[in-house]
Amino acid sequence: MLAVGKVLDGKALAEETLHKLKVEIEGLNRQPTLHVLVSKHDPASVSYVKMKCKAANKIGAKLREFLIDDDHSQEDMENLIKSLNENSAVDGILVQHPLPSHLSEQKILALLDPKKDVDGISPLSLGALASRMPGHRAATPLGIMRLLKHYDIEISGKNALVIGESQILGRPMALMLLNAGATVSIAHKQTRDLEGHVGRAEILVSATGVANLVKAHWVRGGTAVVDCGYASADGQVCGDVECIVKEKASYTTPVPGGVGPMTVATLMSNLVDATRFLGAA
Ligand code: GUN
Repeated sequence: MLAVGKVLDGKALAEETLHKLKVEIEGLNRQPTLHVLVSKHDPASVSYVKMKCKAANKIGAKLREFLIDDDHSQEDMENLIKSLNENSAVDGILVQHPLPSHLSEQKILALLDPKKDVDGISPLSLGALASRMPGHRAATPLGIMRLLKHYDIEISGKNALVIGESQILGRPMALMLLNAGATVSIAHKQTRDLEGHVGRAEILVSATGVANLVKAHWVRGGTAVVDCGYASADGQVCGDVECIVKEKASYTTPVPGGVGPMTVATLMSNLVDATRFLGAA
């Protein structure tokens, strides 16, 4: 009989990860330091960065925020990245997406020293992932891979569907599943017959932010469902997938409490890796 209704408890695994990182940092000869560039006028970004700051405090790392205002130019931001790259007291740099629309996020990310790109979303880090070379891996999809591994979910040979093609999530997620041996499809806004694609998936990762986009009856029995969505509908917090899917899926992530905490914990784990590497250099 297929296992049904199990929960991928990202909150619990994230707590366990943060605890291990705190112990690890106590044994390092430097305090990990992360610099975050965040748009001052984007409340969601500011609140995500607060969560990252809380986790950093918990493990004994330092997080410095740079609030980007409307009068910061592209040149200001590029000079800031260059100086953070050169600064030996900085272990990690994170550019919180989205930046204000007058800035080119891609040009800024392209300047990041890959050794300090602890969010793993710069072109060089994504290229390293695509070519299976060493480098920091994108925090959210790596957190999801760790969650799947923690629950012994087999990936090799499975049909995996990723809904959403973002640089932060969908694209690196698909590459990580591919590198782990899955047969991967990516669905996006131009995809026809989403229902048909969902019906073939044995591992489903949805990252669109469209509440209840994926209907529970589309999902085949026994699928592992990872829901990265977080939106509100009818006054309730919802994911991308109708929550009654838990009655037929083998595993589901709670929304909230699944993917979000794993993103933060994995970012901290990348930061500790960067600190160890840069400290040894
Ligand atoms: N915006 C929302 N989530 C993320 C994330 O994980 N990383 C970055 N850089 N920006 C985000």
